[in-house]
Amino acid sequence: MDWMIRDGMLRSMLGETFPLVLGRECAGEIVETGTNVKLFRKGDLVVAITDIHKMGSFAEYAVAPEQTTYPKPINISFEEAAAIPIAGLTALRGLRDAGEISSGKKVLIIGASGGVGHLGVQIARIFSANITAVCKSSNADFVKSLGADAVIDYTKEDFTKARSAMTSSLTLFRSAPSRNA
Ligand SMILES: NC(=O)c1ccc[n+]([C@@H]2O[C@H](COP(=O)([O-])OP(=O)(O)OC[C@H]3O[C@@H](n4cnc5c(N)ncnc54)[C@H](OP(=O)(O)O)[C@@H]3O)[C@@H](O)[C@H]2O)c1
Repeated sequence: MDWMIRDGMLRSMLGETFPLVLGRECAGEIVETGTNVKLFRKGDLVVAITDIHKMGSFAEYAVAPEQTTYPKPINISFEEAAAIPIAGLTALRGLRDAGEISSGKKVLIIGASGGVGHLGVQIARIFSANITAVCKSSNADFVKSLGADAVIDYTKEDFTKARSAMTSSLTLFRSAPSRNA
């Protein structure tokens, strides 16, 4: 999304004008809190999504609501943490909330090697689902290392045919291509 916005796309849904500081998610150290903030204090290391209607997380200092601020996991870098929130929530809500994923369910993850999909594979693995990943062969080892049971190369095989191999409890989690669309 960031590169699309940077390149002048999505203007109608964005409602913002250039020049614009991009970015909706970030990780860092809290330097100041609002008077009503209860969960965090100065010095806390956090990952956050800025206000959904206001970007600006690529700046050195960014403002985020308490409700979309979370403690940064200690075992990952700031860069890794900053990449997780929106893609991770998209994958989590798609699989867990919309898809009602559970142990043993068959999941087809289209775009499994992408920003959303690679997190979706890991989430589906945590839920002990049976995962078929769709991506290029060059990314097959990568998605298998994250937990995919099988991989379909979309350049060689029509992955929509794989639906017939799915059970009635199929959860189709779609992470559609963005740059190639
Ligand atoms: N990233 C986010 O935070 C976010 C949040 C909400 C919604 N979205 C939406 O989710 C979608 C995916 O975003 P993303 O950031 O994950 O994109 P991405 O990182 O560019 O990943 C695209 C994925 O699609 C695969 N792909 C490319 N062409 C394909 C084709 N013709 N058929 C099947 N798969 C194909 C790619 O596989 P190979 O690389 O192996 O070729 C890759 O796994 C976009 O529509 C985006 O707008 C993204």
